Amino acid sequence: MKLALRWHVFLIGFLLGTSGAFAADKPQTSAPSTQLAQRPGHAGIASANTLATEAGLEVLAKGGNAFDAAVAVASTLSVVEPESSGIGGGFMATMYIAADKRSVFIDARETAPAAVNTKDYLNPDGTPNRDTALKGPLSAGIPGEPAGLAWLAKHYGKLPLTASLAPAIRTARDGFKPDNRLLGSINEEQKNLERWPASAGKFLPGGKAPAAGQVWSDPDQAHTLELLAKYGEPGFYSGETAQKLVSAVHEAGGNWTLKDLAAYRVKERAPLTVDYRGYKIITAPPPSSGGVAIAEILNILSGFDLSKLDQVHRVHLVIEAMRRAFRDHNDYLGDPDFVKMPLNMLLSPYYADGLRQTILPDKATPSSMLAPSNSEDPGQHTTHFSIIDADGNMVAMTCTVNYVLGSTFVAKGTGVLLNDEMDDFALVANKPNVYGLLGSKANAPEPGKRMLSSMSPSIVIGADRTAVIGSPGGSTIITQVLEGILAFIDGGDAHQVVAYKRFHHQYMPDRVMVEPGAFDAATSSALTQMGHTLKEREPWGFMNAVIWDRRTNKLDAASDPRREDGLGKVQ
Ligand code: DON
Repeated sequence: MKLALRWHVFLIGFLLGTSGAFAADKPQTSAPSTQLAQRPGHAGIASANTLATEAGLEVLAKGGNAFDAAVAVASTLSVVEPESSGIGGGFMATMYIAADKRSVFIDARETAPAAVNTKDYLNPDGTPNRDTALKGPLSAGIPGEPAGLAWLAKHYGKLPLTASLAPAIRTARDGFKPDNRLLGSINEEQKNLERWPASAGKFLPGGKAPAAGQVWSDPDQAHTLELLAKYGEPGFYSGETAQKLVSAVHEAGGNWTLKDLAAYRVKERAPLTVDYRGYKIITAPPPSSGGVAIAEILNILSGFDLSKLDQVHRVHLVIEAMRRAFRDHNDYLGDPDFVKMPLNMLLSPYYADGLRQTILPDKATPSSMLAPSNSEDPGQHTTHFSIIDADGNMVAMTCTVNYVLGSTFVAKGTGVLLNDEMDDFALVANKPNVYGLLGSKANAPEPGKRMLSSMSPSIVIGADRTAVIGSPGGSTIITQVLEGILAFIDGGDAHQVVAYKRFHHQYMPDRVMVEPGAFDAATSSALTQMGHTLKEREPWGFMNAVIWDRRTNKLDAASDPRREDGLGKVQ
């Protein structure tokens, strides 16, 4: 096999209608280059964990499509990668339905409970209370992931939830060997997990994190998933699970009600599309800020011929475009069901023309000169996976419980680890959240409102190649996906796209986060001369991409090498 596939990235061969079968490593090379393939005939999945990718493949082998596989992958990640995402959190997905030649965005983002009270996120002296924002039940929004998975099965899948959730239920019940990254996350958060008996019960069996190589199971989550499989959405949002969630949250000082859970709704939205250099980018609309920012950046960059520039000037322009897009992020964006956003302006090429004019060719613009809008931890949690199935259906899905192990609060008897997504609201106006993002009224918490996200699951369609990409990383998600798109448009294959060395600017703080190795000494010094403040950071992100070359009909799937190189914790 030519592709250097990693354990959690697979391509698989499937029956091609009545015409027989072929293996994944033997794509249809005979397709003439003038005739673009209409369907891959084989499937690719790239996710953060071997067991999750295998779960997706298992469901495809049972006759499922990409949407069924997405249910299997996401639910298995809830079990095996709980530090990043799960049924106590939410997701956003950009999908392409091949039969209808249509794309759709699934918003299974969490919502604020009706009793949300901004005072809960302040200390008595009026300073932000970072503990209630990030730990315990007050930090948790009403989960969207279970409803989102049920929605996918009902509206897009071919299999019942009992089939697509089966691998996750089995893994939770029979157990698995946690990878080093999960064990590291449990150790990192041990003190917080000890604050709540059900959290300690789940993650600290016998009072400490499971040892490497030890089989660890989660029968409570298996039961909760079984109820979801059996009854669909009501199996989580009413009845036994809902009762348990609400009473556990109340016991620990939270404010959820049964009504909040019953009122949760998945939203289907029109994805945001951007045209850039002959490619159509299909990406996340609000309540993600990702697509708007990516569109704004690409619109600004479309006025330059980046391929004719040296690295220094190319990077300079990308940084300046990032700076301007993030300023707008802070000021304007929020839940479209609650706030009016000037999207026509933000997405207009004329607006981009205006912003482009403010960029000096050889000098950084201090963010303070651009009119208003700090921590800057890119975060290593949240998870993204990409799927293309044999028929050309595509799913780019980013799932999150927000920060590492979410709120660290497990609702007793459910195995459900609640998210700490409330911190993605501007809980205190113009005070940075954990990713250093600022916000104002547009993203202030309100009952039932969705908190702004950076998640940017995207599909990029060119004349002869298509990419499904996304990544975790808090505010850096946006710039990672942008840089992935640029690498793809420059001809990069899946491995090059996910490995591309990253840099990030988010308006405030006014500095460029640089991954070691992104710039050579001469480039760094030239950028510094131009007035950019460079700050080297540990590698960030965990991109998973699948690329379909419709000329050769070859699928190419890759998972971010940083996980092995930088963190070295892939099982
Ligand atoms: O929705 C968001 O933007 C965040 N909750 C994502 C968090 C994240 O990516 C954490 N780290 N990798």
